[in-house]
Amino acid sequence: MKFIHHTTIALALLLSATNIPYANANPDEGMYPLSELNRAGLKKAGLKISEKDIYNPGQVGLVDALVQVSGCTGSFVSNRGLIITNHHCAFSAVQLASTAINNYLKNGFVAQNQEQEIEAKGLKIRITDSYEDVSVKILNSVANISDPVERINTIKRKQEELVKQAEKEDPTIKAEVSEMFIGKSYVLFRYKTIEDVRLVYIPRQNIGEFGGETDNWVWPRHTGDYSFLRAYVGKDGKSAPYSKDNVPYQPKKHLKVNPNGVKENDFTFILGYPGKTFRHRPAQYIKYQQDYLLPYVSNLYDFQNKQMEEAGKDNTDIALSLATRIKRNANVLKNYRGKLKGLRGIDLLSTKKQEDEALAAFILSKPELKGKYGNLLNDIAAYYQVSDQDALKELWINNIYNSTSLLKVARDLNTLKVAMGKERSSHAAKQLFDYNVEQLKKSIQETYESYNKQADQRIFGRMLADAAAFQGKNQLESIQKLQLNGETANTYATQLINSSKLADQNYILNTVLANANALSQFDDKLLSFQNELDNDIVIFAAEQKRREGVLNKLMGDYVAVKEIFQAKNFIPDANSTLRLTYGHIKGYAPADATYMKPFTTIEGIIQKGNLGLSDFDYPQEIKTAYLNKNFGPYLKKDLGSVPVNILYDMDTTGGNSGSPIMNANGELIGVNFDRAYDATINDFAWNESYSRSIGVDIRYVLWVADKIDNAHFILKEMGI
Ligand code: ARG
Ligand code: GLU
Repeated sequence: MKFIHHTTIALALLLSATNIPYANANPDEGMYPLSELNRAGLKKAGLKISEKDIYNPGQVGLVDALVQVSGCTGSFVSNRGLIITNHHCAFSAVQLASTAINNYLKNGFVAQNQEQEIEAKGLKIRITDSYEDVSVKILNSVANISDPVERINTIKRKQEELVKQAEKEDPTIKAEVSEMFIGKSYVLFRYKTIEDVRLVYIPRQNIGEFGGETDNWVWPRHTGDYSFLRAYVGKDGKSAPYSKDNVPYQPKKHLKVNPNGVKENDFTFILGYPGKTFRHRPAQYIKYQQDYLLPYVSNLYDFQNKQMEEAGKDNTDIALSLATRIKRNANVLKNYRGKLKGLRGIDLLSTKKQEDEALAAFILSKPELKGKYGNLLNDIAAYYQVSDQDALKELWINNIYNSTSLLKVARDLNTLKVAMGKERSSHAAKQLFDYNVEQLKKSIQETYESYNKQADQRIFGRMLADAAAFQGKNQLESIQKLQLNGETANTYATQLINSSKLADQNYILNTVLANANALSQFDDKLLSFQNELDNDIVIFAAEQKRREGVLNKLMGDYVAVKEIFQAKNFIPDANSTLRLTYGHIKGYAPADATYMKPFTTIEGIIQKGNLGLSDFDYPQEIKTAYLNKNFGPYLKKDLGSVPVNILYDMDTTGGNSGSPIMNANGELIGVNFDRAYDATINDFAWNESYSRSIGVDIRYVLWVADKIDNAHFILKEMGI
């Protein structure tokens, strides 16, 4: 979102309430849904192909080459289902396929033929098939409902109904209704899914993750964050679970890779699945992020990582079991710290406040708006006034189970145990047990995989101490009555965990979950604790539901009247649906006296390597090729080297990882994987001065594949 300067406000007032669609002051901003491509101004910005080549309903376009890969994005780059995405998007699957002897994570993996490709466990693919605006259907169903809980329940029910209907009409698709603007617009998306995904070519870790956490969210960057996967389907062309007999999927469209890459100022665009942004929220929401969410979560994750690192410092097995949790925490933590810095830096809160005040004045100045929206901004303020009072409690509840593994196991056991207790007969209870036990075991096992007693005790102790110190509406009755303080909380946590059988994985899985009776009769102090805590959580959940209903209506109205005020139609916040963003390859000046160029080179890998930090280890082969100037056709002449990473002012967020970066002709020239530190506040407000995203240059991908990994088949398959 562009900041509202006073001139803009004045202009909007002059234009009065007439709605001028497609007025877009800032062409580079925006994650455009497919329905809005015509207002993006793509041709004017430099697109050389037709907009219809990108997307044309009922016809084949570039969007048909796009896939969503378990929270990331990827794209087809051959007619045999070859997909390019990020290394970090395949990370978990590579980890699962790795053993101490075949450590693909560390050493990389190159399948020289189809037989050698390995199952990418846990990765699932979705392809957007079509979409349909269902706002009217949904909003009509709540037109006469004023009770907030009934409103939100009705919206959810209506969404489910539309999904069921769409899946019945076409059983080959999965449907999903996405809220584009809260309480205002809804779109039904139809997706094709592919279940059998395989690892084809993964660079070794010190290429794919070069720079580690030190360089994460940082420019200049030198990470080979790419990987190649392949989609497989049954012989009949339909999606099927992993099987030896499956065949490579033939996509409707695949992207052409352009080995010549890009140069500074070139027009580029990205198609992908950005996850979540918060640009159309009032000032109070920014204040909530700044005062509560960002500091609470970043401090908690920081503490958690210190405990987990400490636990694993002399034991590689422990370190490995905690590695994914630590990596995820570290990624969020650094992002949130970047946001805190950025929010202070641009004082977004003040800008938002001014914006909301101007909006309030505008509403009051228009009789036709005053009736409907006269109380809106007061109602919003009242809403946040209430929800801020127990914001800490909510954050604590949202984090308690992911923080303490054994408490999560307790919750999972209790959920089934309590449900069984509610059954009318022991026979029915047994049936319920039999039906759920395998799934329960699986989920509990997963929790144990990253469980460490010492870390768990300390984190639990800290969470208890936090809750014990909460005041007023933040207090949780179940914790309050334990009368703990900072010191006793730790002792209490340690004793509770020590007294519990839950730390004994074997006992839980093989004895407690052996049969329905054993579970019904299992008593444990941690289970009782979780039960009591759950009473608090259930009461709060009902209040959360009510608030969701209130907010839904408020935000719908807020965006609607703000569009009238600013005389434009907004681009909806990211919501994991397919979007297009465009911009240019561009450097920037993030701090006083600095200018950052938009390309990094192999030279930078060598320079960082000289620092002697383990995050900057790199393969000797790179050094050798560098010294011999063995750059092949991937050399960018003016740089005298192979470009490694590129910087651009496109509008991306989490979920855009793995998105293809395309040139004016729609050819792939790189893969998006990160943002610069100052751009983490993108999620609240995009701005051309600080919004920069980071991708891996296709020339580096091809150079490594060719000269370092001898993965020539990849080049051949992509027609290079
Ligand atoms: N920051 C990037 C994204 O949000 C990359 C994350 C993976 N890499 C890492 N070093 N943690 O997800
Ligand atoms: N690495 C992020 C992801 O996994 C993308 C970076 C960002 O948040 O912009 O989607």
